[in-house]
Amino acid sequence: MAEQASIHGLWRSRWLFILAATGSAVGLGNIWKFPYITGENGGGAFVLVYLACICLIGIPVMIGEVVMGRMGRQSPINTMKALIKDNGGNPAWVGIGWMGALAGFLILSFYSVIAGWALYYVFQMMSGEFAATTAEHAGEVFGGLLGDPGTLMTWHTVFMILTIAVVARGVTKGLETAISILMPALFVLLIIMMGYAMASDGFAQGLEFLFSPDFSKLSWNSVVVALGHAFFTLSLGMGAIMAYGAYLPSGHSIGKTVVTIAVLDTVVALAAGMAIFPIVFSNGLEPGAGPGLLFQTLPIAFGNMPGGILFGTLFFILVSFAAWSSSISLAEPVMAWLVESKGLNRFKAGVLVGLIAWVLGIGTVLSFNEWAEIKLFDKTFFDTLDYLTANIMLPLGGLLIALFVAWVMRQDDVKAALEVENETLYKAWTVTVKFLAPLAIVFVFLNGLGVFAFG
Ligand code: TRP
Repeated sequence: MAEQASIHGLWRSRWLFILAATGSAVGLGNIWKFPYITGENGGGAFVLVYLACICLIGIPVMIGEVVMGRMGRQSPINTMKALIKDNGGNPAWVGIGWMGALAGFLILSFYSVIAGWALYYVFQMMSGEFAATTAEHAGEVFGGLLGDPGTLMTWHTVFMILTIAVVARGVTKGLETAISILMPALFVLLIIMMGYAMASDGFAQGLEFLFSPDFSKLSWNSVVVALGHAFFTLSLGMGAIMAYGAYLPSGHSIGKTVVTIAVLDTVVALAAGMAIFPIVFSNGLEPGAGPGLLFQTLPIAFGNMPGGILFGTLFFILVSFAAWSSSISLAEPVMAWLVESKGLNRFKAGVLVGLIAWVLGIGTVLSFNEWAEIKLFDKTFFDTLDYLTANIMLPLGGLLIALFVAWVMRQDDVKAALEVENETLYKAWTVTVKFLAPLAIVFVFLNGLGVFAFG
């Protein structure tokens, strides 16, 4: 296929692509979701399965997404159309693009609500609300927030406006400097928190919980959640990385680039776990506390450490930024498509996308209070969206991407675009996307549905 040009601009270097993709990957998934689902799914064994999913499925699929994006150089929907045409595939494969666009809306809608919690906590921290706080008080503040739809709506609205303000200007502009300073800052702060956790009584117990696997605690549902989270945390399966790949300049090994992103993402998630679980155990809290875990634990630490107001405020600012650089990538696939195919300018497209996701987000806001008792299969509106996107739509998208790149695309084109540096690693990747990753995803799905009923 002839080299295409992107109408949306290119990252100025491979390093900026790494920053932007890491900005997309590192977000609430690492700092908020990973610790609480690890807590809910029993710790070590879950972490091990999650790491296996990152290495054996996440990284290979991510390579596939980037290479498809870079060859198509358009929004995922139009990239799929171009690749199908060029390789003579069945037109139905464009479904990868459409399903991704839908998943992007659904995730963005609840992501913005949770990111709103982080924004709210910036101001709570600053006000000194958590000075010398107890676990009980931290729990009350969080409970108070969830019970108050007005406050939740306010911060959801603020966050959505921030997201749209960036995508409306184009992701390759403006974002670059912000990410290159804030990502390292977040990491430094996590290290400081780990240092604090290390000095607490619960440190050994926290580490043991995270790293010593007890497989008797692992159910097939936990494996489905681990697989789903591997996709969620790497931003895979819905075209976000494909859209970013479309702006990646040629001339570099895609494999190396992807491995760098996955390693950074994993390190941040593990660091967050190592900062949070010692505090959980030092204060006799419940590791399976659910979505409030981050917000009920770290304020205790900040409230009781020297300089806690400063560090706490800074921490939630950086979490908000991490969420910001992620939410942008959720909107980008649809944005790019609206610009390419519907002739909208980025501003109009941004307002449209933001408005739809904002309205959908109201359902998540209410699921924590007014609608808390309205359940479908034992799940609230938020739980349903979270499960449907992370555990079903993203792995399904990833499965289709692996199959497309390995079975539909001409392999010599793919190989050239990957700019392979190591023949053995290339062969390993081919075998993985052809067989291993698709079979593993299908196997986990079927077990999750109880088809084989293996426990
Ligand atoms: N990876 C981000 C996080 O961990 C969330 C995210 C951004 C995402 N873009 C995505 C998840 C695309 C799935 C698909 O917070």
